[in-house]
Amino acid sequence: MHSYSLIAPAKINLYLEILGDRADGYHELVMVLQSIGLADKIYLRSISTDIIRVYCNNPQVPLDNSNLAYRAAELMVREFPTAFAQYGGLEITINKQIPVAAGLAGGSTNAAAVLVGIDLLWKLGLTQSELQELGAKLGSDVPFCIAGGTAIATGRGEQLSPLPDLDHLYVVLGKYRSLTVSTAWAYQMYRQQFGSSYISDVKSLESRASRVHSGPLVNAIFHKDGAKIGGLIHNDLERVVLPTHPQVLQLREAFHSTGVLGTMMSGSGPTVFALAESNAQAEQIQDQVKAMIPTPDLDLWVTRFCNTGIQVASSAK
Ligand code: C5P
Repeated sequence: MHSYSLIAPAKINLYLEILGDRADGYHELVMVLQSIGLADKIYLRSISTDIIRVYCNNPQVPLDNSNLAYRAAELMVREFPTAFAQYGGLEITINKQIPVAAGLAGGSTNAAAVLVGIDLLWKLGLTQSELQELGAKLGSDVPFCIAGGTAIATGRGEQLSPLPDLDHLYVVLGKYRSLTVSTAWAYQMYRQQFGSSYISDVKSLESRASRVHSGPLVNAIFHKDGAKIGGLIHNDLERVVLPTHPQVLQLREAFHSTGVLGTMMSGSGPTVFALAESNAQAEQIQDQVKAMIPTPDLDLWVTRFCNTGIQVASSAK
């Protein structure tokens, strides 16, 4: 039986603008997404019984079909019944390093790794865009997690345009261990509070999205200008999460006071990230924030931007 070990990187949002409602109940978004070095490891192997089994080192992670990685395996079983009959069931072991419900796409990147891994395990030969089409059925961030790097994401977040690599930048992440935010809750709150300002006509939506494509942040990314990027990062969801969770605002302010290139909440939070020019600067920021907020509940990480999505670490027969 073959097995694969895959690296599944987290992502941060350098930009997240909510444009309006969609007919499918989701929001129409314009985002700039960035893969980072903080990653889970997914070990995938075929087993002789016809079941899907999930293991994880983090007890917060469900092991049933409420886990997106489990649902990714179920989707592949449904889509490719002949391969499933030939290769048998699947054992998925998740070594979780990415915090859960943190705005870092931890669940989505695990699902992305399962799709990529099963494609290899079952020798399906799917293209990246075929895998991304399957990924979009599981969650809005899954297609990005497959390809990774730096990209503009529009629609629900599943329509991607790649941007140049930014792997010279470093990032410090901060998250209170006891605090999680549900993405569905954050979008629902946003709709309640700001729904009246949503754009609804197709022309205005298209023109807003295209302005981001040629806008100042994307321009700064093309010039790999860390200071400009740091000044232009934006996240609409801060408008609902920061007032509800003052701790997150306090963490953001702590990062800001250390002279970072820029600081922002990622996705629906509650993780806050800060951009730095070098590993040494990032470590200095980490130490300063640790001293300013000396609680064991605050986890901090230093990592860097990365220009890949799901990667195969090793395989065995
Ligand atoms: O796509 P995903 O399952 O990751 O999204 C989680 C939740 O976030 C959705 O159920 C929805 O409530 C909200 N969402 C949204 N608009 C998007 C993406 C997510 O309203 N474009």
